[in-house]
Amino acid sequence: MQTIKLNNGVEMPQMGYGVYQVSPQECERCVTDALSVGYRMIDTAQAYQNEEGVGNAVAKCGISREDIFIVSKIWISNFGYERAKKSIDESLRRLRSNYIDLMLLHQPFGDRYGAYRALEEAYKEGKVRAIGVSNFYPDHFIDLCANVDVVPAVNQIETHVFQQQIESRKYMDELGIAHMSWGPLAEGRNGFFTNETLINIGKKYGKTGPQVALRYLLDRGVIIIPKSSRKERMAENFNIFDFKLSQDDMDAILKLDTGKSVFFDHHDPEIVKWFVGMMKK
Ligand SMILES: NC(=O)c1ccc[n+]([C@@H]2O[C@H](COP(=O)([O-])OP(=O)(O)OC[C@H]3O[C@@H](n4cnc5c(N)ncnc54)[C@H](OP(=O)(O)O)[C@@H]3O)[C@@H](O)[C@H]2O)c1
Repeated sequence: MQTIKLNNGVEMPQMGYGVYQVSPQECERCVTDALSVGYRMIDTAQAYQNEEGVGNAVAKCGISREDIFIVSKIWISNFGYERAKKSIDESLRRLRSNYIDLMLLHQPFGDRYGAYRALEEAYKEGKVRAIGVSNFYPDHFIDLCANVDVVPAVNQIETHVFQQQIESRKYMDELGIAHMSWGPLAEGRNGFFTNETLINIGKKYGKTGPQVALRYLLDRGVIIIPKSSRKERMAENFNIFDFKLSQDDMDAILKLDTGKSVFFDHHDPEIVKWFVGMMKK
C-alpha cells in the first residue's frame, strides 16, 4: 500500500475506506468486506455512531492491529478540554483498541482549542499516534497552528475533482499538514458518475470515471477514503494502482475544478448557526 509520511514520521496509507452514512448495524460487515478487498485504513468518527462496528471488524478480521490504520474524529458536542479528553477514551473503548492511529477535530467550531489540548495530551500519552483537524480552512488552521504545541498532521477537507482545494493546499503544504480528502467521489453530486471528461479519459486506460478521479487525487498527493456499502464498488475504487494518468489527462481534470463546495460553505453564517445548534444536542 502506498503511504504518506506525516509530519511526525508516522506512515499513513494513502488510500482508505470511509464509513460515513454506514449504519451501525451494517458497519461491521462493510469494514470486514473492505479489509478483505485490501483496504488497510478505515475512517470513522464519533458522529457516525459506528465506531463499534469498526472495532468489531478490526478485532475479528485476523489482520494484526498494527497493519490497520484507524482514523476517528471528535464531534463538536464533545469539544472543550474535559469533554474531549473523556470522549477519546470512549472512542478507544468502542474501537476495541488501546490506540487510535489518527484522531481529528471534526469541525472548526466551538471550543476547538480546549479539544485540541486534549488531543495533544492523548498524543503525548500514546493514546493516539497522530492528531489533526477536519474541515479547517486556511483562516482556521493558520490561527490554530500559531497557538498549539503540536502542528496538525492532517487536515481532512472536502476534496474531489470539482473542489480541488488548490488555495487551501498551498497553505497546508507551507505548514506541513497532509491533505486528506472527504467525499472523493463528490457523493455523486454535480453529475460526478456521468461526467464525460472522466469517462472518456477512463476509456483510454480501461478504467471507470470514479477510478480516474481517485487516481487523479492520489497523483496530487491527496489521501483518499471513498465509501461504498457494496463490495464490488469497494473493489472498483481500490483498483487504481496499476495505471498512471498522462500529463494531458491531469491537465484536463484540473479544469473540472470550480473552487467551490458541492455541499456547503463553512463560512456561511447560516451553516455556522446550524453547527452551533448541533453543539447543544
Ligand atoms: N470530515 C468530514 O466532515 C467528512 C464529511 C463527509 C465524509 N467524510 C469521510 O469521507 C468518506 C467518503 O466520503 P462520502 O462517503 O461522503 O462520499 P464519497 O465517497 O464521495 O461517495 C460515496 C457515494 O458514492 C457511491 N459510490 C461509491 N463508489 C461508487 C462507484 N464506484 N460507482 C458508483 N457509485 C459509487 C456510494 O454509494 P454505495 O454505498 O451505494 O455504493 C455513496 O453513495 C466518508 O465515508 C467519511 O469517512 C468526512
